[in-house]
Amino acid sequence: MGGTVAGGLFVAQRAVANGTSATVPAAGRSAHQHAGLVPARAGVAPLTVAPFQVRMPIPPIAAPVRQSTICDEYEVEVRRAQVEVVPGLTTDVLSYGGGLVGPTIRGRTGHPVKVTFRNSLDVPTNVHLHGGHVAAADDGHPMDLIQPGAVRVYHYPNSQRGTTLWYHDHAHGLEAEHVYYGLHGFYLIDDPAEQQLRLPTGNYDVPIMLKDVKLDDTGALVFDNPDERTTVLANGKPTPFFPVSARKYRFRLLNASNEGVYTLSIDKGKLWQIGTDGGLLPAPVARPAVTFGSAERVDVVIDFTGLPSGSSVVLRDANKGPVLRFDVGWTAPDTSRVPARLRALPMLPQATVERDVRMRFDLTGDPVGLINDKAYDPNRVDFTIKRGSTEIWTIHNDDTEFGILHTFHMHLAQFRVLSRTGAPMTPDDAGDKDTVVVPAGTSVRVQATFDGYLGRYAYHCHFLEHSSIGMMAQMEIVP
Ligand code: C2O
Ligand code: CU
Ligand code: CU
Repeated sequence: MGGTVAGGLFVAQRAVANGTSATVPAAGRSAHQHAGLVPARAGVAPLTVAPFQVRMPIPPIAAPVRQSTICDEYEVEVRRAQVEVVPGLTTDVLSYGGGLVGPTIRGRTGHPVKVTFRNSLDVPTNVHLHGGHVAAADDGHPMDLIQPGAVRVYHYPNSQRGTTLWYHDHAHGLEAEHVYYGLHGFYLIDDPAEQQLRLPTGNYDVPIMLKDVKLDDTGALVFDNPDERTTVLANGKPTPFFPVSARKYRFRLLNASNEGVYTLSIDKGKLWQIGTDGGLLPAPVARPAVTFGSAERVDVVIDFTGLPSGSSVVLRDANKGPVLRFDVGWTAPDTSRVPARLRALPMLPQATVERDVRMRFDLTGDPVGLINDKAYDPNRVDFTIKRGSTEIWTIHNDDTEFGILHTFHMHLAQFRVLSRTGAPMTPDDAGDKDTVVVPAGTSVRVQATFDGYLGRYAYHCHFLEHSSIGMMAQMEIVP
């Protein structure tokens, strides 16, 4: 986004953080006054961190507290924690289980998972499984909160294809700040139907959460101007290195930045995209670069075979520069493959309804995010949808004047991108998606089937500073 507008929104966010904005509904305002991690340090210059000083960790895999033939059960505490992001400095974060990246929950298709989240914060929170096909009561509706001291059990049926999901806070008006400070983790679904593909597994299947932040010279996270978030964290460490063997790896890349787009490429070796938000693509696609906005996932295989021990491969973003360096060690046995065919996409039923979704800001006073000319109201239903129906939505980004980028995300359903106007379709649009980038002045047509559940689900811009100030709406699925 351009400097002027970023500045304007930044002012809006400060107003929100100080509880003075007239545009933020009361629940968000009062809770913000307790958040406490924010205002004092706002306005300082970002810290510059030397790259490749620390090793990229792999987020811990959550251990089930109970397992049965019916479901696997997990417990996660939502709490404040102190972590080391920059060597030698301490960073206060909001955390799932104590780390800046929460524990990875690994489910499998057809086998339900129950997660009990305990809120040990002094502010309300909730949990949304992004990309999950779940009942409305388990979706983390922005008003369906876990109060301080309370616990909440979320049921995840895993009745969907194998893929890379993530869980994050979705508390009304607070999501931008809460996610920024660390309320995010991976949720992977393994699919028995994909086992015979022999993609890299185990130690060679690595989730990587990318997120850009602004740190000050004490190592504190600063929540202010998005344009100053110049440090890219990979699994919570700034531009780290990651030792690899000279063989194939599967990397599940997640853009967990509050706002922004990565265009990533490697400087040697081969990269195939094998999957996206909702699961595998029909076939691998060799790609010179992948582009993905906030909340999108890109599942890739990188082949380090044949690279000499001691060499390295840099993963670089087109704008922010290096984000991660793979340091190649010895060859390791590799029986994994990148098969010519992966998995056919589900059939697209005939659409019976067409709708338009128009996203823009009202910048005449304090900035307010609008969808179809209205700021989010959790008590208003914007679209009423018959369960089982298939619809085509055309998402428009009407913020042409200042060229503000938006992304579009829909809860409950994975969609298919049909076409774009004003911007070409790219391989980044392929497959089952739940989030897409919508550049200013362009539109994207998507098709989705709303099946399985009834109730209210959100759709919104996934630049969380935008959704937090109103760029969100809701649909109600009815019988
Ligand atoms: Cu990533 Cu409404 O969510
Ligand atoms: Cu979501
Ligand atoms: Cu937006």
